[in-house]
Amino acid sequence: MKTKIFADANLTVGEISPNLYGSFIEHLGRAVYEGIYEPNHPTADENGFRRDVIGLIRELGVPVVRYPGGNFLSGYDWRDGIGPKEKRPTRLDLAWFTTEPNEFGTDEFMKWCRVAGIEPMMAVNMGTGTIRDAAQLVEYCNHEGGTDISEMRKANGSVEPYHVRYWCIGNEMDGPWQIGHLTADEYGKKALEAAKVMRWANGGMVEKNKKWSQTPLKLIVSGSSNHEMKTFPEWDRIVLENTYKQVDYLSMHRYYMYSEERENPLEDFLGSADDMHEYIGTLRATIEYVRAKVRSKKQVKISFDEWNIWSVTAPRLEPLWKKAPHLLEDVYTFRDALVFAGLMNTLLNNCDVVKLGCLAQLVNVIAPIMTEKGGRTFKQTTFYPFKYIANYAKGETVRTFSDSDTFENMYGTARYINEAVCHDRQNGRVSVSLCNYSGSSREVELELRSFGDLEGEMYLEMANSDLAATNGFDRPDEVVPSEREVPAVKDGKVSLRLPPMSWSFVTFRTK
Ligand code: AHR
Repeated sequence: MKTKIFADANLTVGEISPNLYGSFIEHLGRAVYEGIYEPNHPTADENGFRRDVIGLIRELGVPVVRYPGGNFLSGYDWRDGIGPKEKRPTRLDLAWFTTEPNEFGTDEFMKWCRVAGIEPMMAVNMGTGTIRDAAQLVEYCNHEGGTDISEMRKANGSVEPYHVRYWCIGNEMDGPWQIGHLTADEYGKKALEAAKVMRWANGGMVEKNKKWSQTPLKLIVSGSSNHEMKTFPEWDRIVLENTYKQVDYLSMHRYYMYSEERENPLEDFLGSADDMHEYIGTLRATIEYVRAKVRSKKQVKISFDEWNIWSVTAPRLEPLWKKAPHLLEDVYTFRDALVFAGLMNTLLNNCDVVKLGCLAQLVNVIAPIMTEKGGRTFKQTTFYPFKYIANYAKGETVRTFSDSDTFENMYGTARYINEAVCHDRQNGRVSVSLCNYSGSSREVELELRSFGDLEGEMYLEMANSDLAATNGFDRPDEVVPSEREVPAVKDGKVSLRLPPMSWSFVTFRTK
């Protein structure tokens, strides 16, 4: 069976924001401790940051990282994580039932971001936190000096402000599991007041290159935790109606899971990418509805700041109240990588509205990078689609027209061939990410029109007869992409044969 996919360079979906390839570090399990921070590790720098991990994060191509949570955020007092380490309190973390030593906090994160070449995306606590705490954290990070709070930052070693631009106002406030969970109206009102005072606290002018200017804040209001919430999409409507004029992004979260307990485990899992597209579509429409209702010309965008595959139902194997326990250490299969690649295609195909994305998470906790205490690292199966797409799929996404056949699943109908075509005009590159979700090999005819004279550059393929294959510390290269001979392009047409259950990534250069 042949699938025809047509793309024309003039029919663009939108610009791909580099921040679509962001990620997330929460004080959860071993993400921070033994993940990015391990002073006794042989590769640790003078700050205690694991250089081996930073190297892998650079390889992935992550430009922005959200911090410090997650559910952890809603019980966190940022003041606990600053100042001399020996004076910082040890606290119970009621989100994950662990002990938080506060050896790593805001200043360490900012330093880590600088070393790793990453833009910080901070979050303020809307669970146990007040709007005052939120405004004062902005002041701590962004105010020049001369106030008690900004002088604290200076005394803690950072004379220059951090100029943090991205701020999440709370986390998953719609979820009863959240510390200090609120109703949509309660949260909407609190988020509006928080946004106001955060902007006011940031209002001071800063001198940059001998010119006075401001670091404008980009504020992200907490949307639905997933589209199975009973409150979805009313939550999003109400929250936006309260906050539209003060915020820049609506957040959305979603994890997909493979479950043997479902009637059609494989089909239901493979339907994830098309389901994610529907979910984004509903929120896109909700934003438009509210924009019309509040008579705003401003376009609020989506920050998809938690997305991934996660076996949410996996039992907890670690006792309560441990410091940095092994939590949520999912080991990803080849099948996970296939669905993961489809989710990335969906983000790209909605890049006109999804302007920020955070793969949740980055190290050890449902993560593409795993570490051993004092030892090795390995790259999960999902590392590879992320790495290649983030590094090559830049510029614009181009609309595709496909005659792929479809299959039914618990979410509805999904395509067997799932694709994203991206055009990096600046570097003269076209990249095509293709998932074959069928159990047979498929011929694909790609017609790439108006891109100029193209020639093949790179052709990678991930295929494996064992859908459950994984990587690990002792078998790090079990599931990796293999290189194929670059395909010929004739009159803009390219023929590919996709193996059953595979992900392919092909790039072309303009001659
Ligand atoms: O990423 C793991 C958790 O998933 C986050 O803490 C929370 O925001 C979400 O429920």
